[in-house]
Amino acid sequence: MIDEALRVFKDLDSKDFRILTGIETGMKHFEWVPMEELNKYTRLPFEKLEYKLKKLVKNKLVVRNTQPYEGFQIYFEGYDVLALNAFVKRKSISAIGDEVGVGKESVIYEAILPPELAIGEPVPVVIKFHREGRTSFKQIKRVREHLGEREHFSWIYAARLAAQREYDIMTTLYPEVSIPKPFDHNRHAIVMELAKGSLLSKTKLIDPEWYLDEILKQVKITYSLGVIHADLSEYNIFVSEDGVQLIDWPQYVTPEHPHADEILERDVSNVLTHFFRKYGIKRELDETIREIKRQAGKNTEDIKEGTESGTSRGIEEGELEEALEEGFEEDIEEDIFQEEDFEAEKFEAENFEAEEFEVEEFGTEEFEAEKFGTEEIEAGKIEAEDRKVQDFKKAASEKETSDKE
Ligand SMILES: Nc1ncnc2c1ncn2[C@@H]1O[C@H](COP(=O)(O)OP(=O)(O)O)[C@@H](O)[C@H]1O
Ligand SMILES: [Mg+2]
Repeated sequence: MIDEALRVFKDLDSKDFRILTGIETGMKHFEWVPMEELNKYTRLPFEKLEYKLKKLVKNKLVVRNTQPYEGFQIYFEGYDVLALNAFVKRKSISAIGDEVGVGKESVIYEAILPPELAIGEPVPVVIKFHREGRTSFKQIKRVREHLGEREHFSWIYAARLAAQREYDIMTTLYPEVSIPKPFDHNRHAIVMELAKGSLLSKTKLIDPEWYLDEILKQVKITYSLGVIHADLSEYNIFVSEDGVQLIDWPQYVTPEHPHADEILERDVSNVLTHFFRKYGIKRELDETIREIKRQAGKNTEDIKEGTESGTSRGIEEGELEEALEEGFEEDIEEDIFQEEDFEAEKFEAENFEAEEFEVEEFGTEEFEAEKFGTEEIEAGKIEAEDRKVQDFKKAASEKETSDKE
């Protein structure tokens, strides 16, 4: 399905992105975002809007509802292209490749991170598009409670919350814990390093004892940083000649969690069971757990000596949700500034009434008119960013052509 979204990505222009952002923003308040809102938000005449929306519906990026009133919602795929657009514009990726994994709650694509200052080698990365709202009832339940009336918004919120949670914890753990390096985050998506090697579940190890020790070592370091993975198994561990990398972090907990001990036990038990079943290696669960906890204190000291960021930083959920709300505004604001044919003078001349807009549609705290300040918009920069997008689109379309051949 996302393949379809990627295919249409290169045909989207700034107005499409603005419409999509308009629907995204509008969904905070409307179950179905009405045409009038989109007209105000995008400043596109109804006819043009109608035409563009038809295409977006056809490409399955948005969905139209006609009863009890006409309105629009964004699909996951529409959301994907918004995140993708942000990554391209920020130069966090310069090309996207094939799907490399589908998880319970995500879709993963290979991509390329351009080298810094155009020197050096491009870095292979993946984009993880979270899909929590679609599948995870637990997540959704909590999110629904939090959202109340805005239940229709819950999947966007759940996926976004999961991505933010995962990105935050990855930046906390990296590089002390062996995980793919996190590079960027937007909406429900994360750009991270391509993990080395292959999944433990799909690999036959020649020296399993060594890998088991490596995994338990990472669990220890993680624990000493005040984090428990909470979904550890052979499906979330990569193994390569260099060692191991743990992936898939959004559900992590801290040792203060009421079920922290059980969760840690389950993690370790999953790993031990895998090594017992596949390689006949026997390790006592209780003894292994004791070892992890005993060494955790010692590790903390070692890490503190070795690095500066070795302190544990548990993330409070309330804090996170607050940050998430702010994140929304940032993402959207960024989209607006980076618009392709966004002309500052025109913007002003068209008699765009900031205050009215603010009050009528989005509420002051959510949509700050000051942020539209024209002095912040540098035409040159926007043009340069655009060229980048065009290059990307060109590359994507060349890829498509060569794929067909
Ligand atoms: N950094 C990565 N590098 C390579 N493959 C990855 C990476 N992250 C995820 N994958 C692949 O995508 C699958 C799903 O990702 P994961 O983070 O485990 O999400 P989920 O919560 O959906 O299980 C993994 O099993 C793996 O095959
Ligand atoms: Mg997984």
